[in-house]
Amino acid sequence: MKSFAEMRQGRSRIKEILATEAGREQIIVRGWTRTVRRGKDLTFIALNDGSCLSCLQIVVTPELAHYESVVRCGTGACLEVEGALVPSPAAGQRWELHANRIRLLGASDADYPLQKKRHSFEYLRSMAHLRPRANAFGAVFRLRSALSFAIHDFFRQRGFLHVHTPIITANDCEGAGEMFRVTTLDPVKPPLLDGAIDWRQDFFGSRTGLTVSGQLQGELFSGAFADIYTFGPTFRAENSNTSRHAAEFWMIEPEMAFADLAEDCALAEDFLRTLVTFALRECAEDLAFFNERIETGLLEKLEALATAEFQVMSYSEAIQRLERAGRSFEFPVAWGTDLQSEHERYLTEEVVGGPLFVTDYPTGIKAFYMRQNDDGKTVAAMDLLVPRVGEIIGGSQREERLDILQQKMTGCGIDPHSLWWYLDSRRWGSCPHAGFGLGFERLLMYLTGMENIRDVIPFPRTPGHAHF
Ligand code: 4AD
Ligand code: MG
Repeated sequence: MKSFAEMRQGRSRIKEILATEAGREQIIVRGWTRTVRRGKDLTFIALNDGSCLSCLQIVVTPELAHYESVVRCGTGACLEVEGALVPSPAAGQRWELHANRIRLLGASDADYPLQKKRHSFEYLRSMAHLRPRANAFGAVFRLRSALSFAIHDFFRQRGFLHVHTPIITANDCEGAGEMFRVTTLDPVKPPLLDGAIDWRQDFFGSRTGLTVSGQLQGELFSGAFADIYTFGPTFRAENSNTSRHAAEFWMIEPEMAFADLAEDCALAEDFLRTLVTFALRECAEDLAFFNERIETGLLEKLEALATAEFQVMSYSEAIQRLERAGRSFEFPVAWGTDLQSEHERYLTEEVVGGPLFVTDYPTGIKAFYMRQNDDGKTVAAMDLLVPRVGEIIGGSQREERLDILQQKMTGCGIDPHSLWWYLDSRRWGSCPHAGFGLGFERLLMYLTGMENIRDVIPFPRTPGHAHF
């Protein structure tokens, strides 16, 4: 059998074609038509194959076989075009393809929903099966793919082990009661025990759900491999219909043994800066598009971040700053309450004007696993806040002392027996360790300027919506 490379040799990608230095006599491209402009003598077709934002201009003359059916193919049709790549006389493009053979692989008609005019993002969400063919979404999903690679590369270069933590789990890591249930029990007639559902008869012999975080299992691996990370889907049945929350999102969670909160912040800073620098270098055409169409000043903002020093402020100081802000927030500010999005944005946008770590939150508003500080009131937690998006990273140093961890669990209403395996990690060879979670979609919102999380994930899952 021929190798894959040999079989595919026939087809060129538009990205490579547009970057080429010399014309070519015969090339083959395949893609989808964005526009078909029929002139008196010539027809111009803009063809896109998703490899880059730009289209390749196809020039078609009436001598071409099946000319009439080809030029009536419509926006959204799929074509295979063979011809000569020659310098283009038109402004703004270096090359064009003079077609000598066109095969209509899939026709399209006037009902195609993505006609030339600009559509609202709301409308395009209802067309999630076709929106990857729209410019903005092409750019978003190319960036998403490139960044995903950069994330693995970042950790690989630093010697972190990649671990696949489970998606089905019996523990609610964040303790927020936002787990989706996984069950094979009959919903109409579940087995009962003393009037309650008998989960022992369920598939896994216990009550299970979709993971909200891979952290707890990640911690176990960091107790063997020191530096690890997970990058996987996480699920939260949080009924908050905001532009920054999804019920299914992807999270990157590194965990480091022998690390404290300061080292955790340093890794987060290095990580974010590396990813921004990567995007600026590798995804320039798509970022230029976002800068022009989505968020003015985006490139400047990202370039500044690539060299900025991230500020650090304790939660207590943040509360003081908010109290002195001289403005009324929708949610009142008081020590001991969680920061709301409006507070986070005020701090990162107006107080520091850039990325900001807020550290040492009150014990009562954070998860059980965070390390108790000596003041007895706060934990060694950090949130990284960035302008416009707010919280992009949440992390902490972990409580490595068995007795304190058990007390904290009981205090949070978690039965220590239910996490016996997690507690074992504090029994044998426990060590100071720390980690964080970066919400991948929040990162993409920051990098693209897109305002709704639904527009940076291929098929968003939010309350009331699991279409496509
Ligand atoms: O702050 P969170 O809840 O932290 C954790 O889950 C820790 N276990 C992470 C760790 O220390 N290993 O979530 C981490 C990040 C948030 O900062 C946010 O970027 C993102 O995940 N996130 C969401 N993104 C989209 N939709 C949601 N519903 C999100 N909830 C959290
Ligand atoms: Mg958080």
